[in-house]
Amino acid sequence: MNEKTGVLFVCLGNICRSPTAHAIFQAMVERHGLQQRVMVDSCGTGSWHIGQPPDPRMQRTAARWGYDLSPLRARRLAAEDFGRFQHILTMDTRNMAEVMKKAPNDFAGEIRLLLDYSGEKNVLEVPDPYYGGDDGFERVVTLIESACQGLVDHLKQQHG
Ligand code: 4NP
Repeated sequence: MNEKTGVLFVCLGNICRSPTAHAIFQAMVERHGLQQRVMVDSCGTGSWHIGQPPDPRMQRTAARWGYDLSPLRARRLAAEDFGRFQHILTMDTRNMAEVMKKAPNDFAGEIRLLLDYSGEKNVLEVPDPYYGGDDGFERVVTLIESACQGLVDHLKQQHG
């Protein structure tokens, strides 16, 4: 990797799933010594939670797994993101469609489902945990950890 590669995680509100992916992937990047070469961020396609910290339920669950989401603040997908990020990973097909709608025609990076990088081939989407119980938040962490591991391996292969 000669230049910094940008990885952007996208969900709806940027307060549950994508901040979790952001923190998990950032920790993996650091563990692999890639922090000079990979830039990580997250955002939402919706605007309801702009400026807010991650959902307290998500923060509590992530903290039990060793991830600190507290410094993160929600923001919305912006046109400039397509110039800064080459890998745009979405949590579900609804948000992937939103990203594709906003992407310029000449965007040369990838827009795909994060779970394409997971070992669990029968699950395509990270389910939205916002209106559900605690087990939904646990599931967010396990699905995202598995896919982020696959994504790190892919980036190391692709960018050397
Ligand atoms: P996220 O979860 O997309 O994983 O951040 C949601 C957060 C908020 C809402 C929906 C999903 N909402 O409807 O406000």
